Amino acid sequence: MTLQWHVFYIWYKEFPNKILFMTKQKLLGLLLGCGFLALTVGCGNSSNEGGTESTTGSDATATTPSTTDAAPSTGSSSDKGIGKFQNVELTHPLDQKMVASGKAIYEMKCQSCHKLTDEKMVGPGWKGVTDRRTPEWIMNFSTNVDEMLQKDPAAQQMLEECLVRMPNQNLSDEDARALLEFMRQNDGKN
Ligand code: HEC
Repeated sequence: MTLQWHVFYIWYKEFPNKILFMTKQKLLGLLLGCGFLALTVGCGNSSNEGGTESTTGSDATATTPSTTDAAPSTGSSSDKGIGKFQNVELTHPLDQKMVASGKAIYEMKCQSCHKLTDEKMVGPGWKGVTDRRTPEWIMNFSTNVDEMLQKDPAAQQMLEECLVRMPNQNLSDEDARALLEFMRQNDGKN
């Protein structure tokens, strides 16, 4: 309960900014494209273009403006984001100690907003996040969320879709790395 109020408060606080900074076109695209899609499909899952495009059909015209928006950020699937992590070394097989500590941190700090499926709650579900993003991007986003939301195109696009700004979680580097390992496990990596 208190969490929901908290989330609503953040949303409410941010809302005037969002409207001010949005162009009419974006606003329209957001309302049409996201208003109900976000509720059903989930924000940040716009990488499912195949599914959404074929199901929306006549809405195709309405979503065209947002595809031009999305264009620059498609390059960001290989992007490292903004922050100090520029070269994350992955272990094979997974480091089970990190997985376990990542899971514990997830349950404490992230679970209230992120599901482990691809379903959106407050933020995008984590299923497939390690395919959508590079390890560096994930760690930079987790530890440097304010700057990422300000400057990174892919992060900004998620914010437009989610309408909630992820709060800084005050993670240490080790926390962020452990969480990444847990996400990799959740995505069936080894
Ligand atoms: C209060 C809700 C909230 C909490 C708690 C939260 N997040 Fe988020 N997270 C979001 C939102 C909302 C987004 C989408 C970006 C935006 O709108 O700010 C997001 C996006 C993300 C993304 C990008 C997902 C993608 O599909 O690219 C990652 C990674 C992430 N969060 C990691 C974390 C981690 C790690 C924690 C816990 C330490 C955490 N988040 C806790 C709300 C939250």
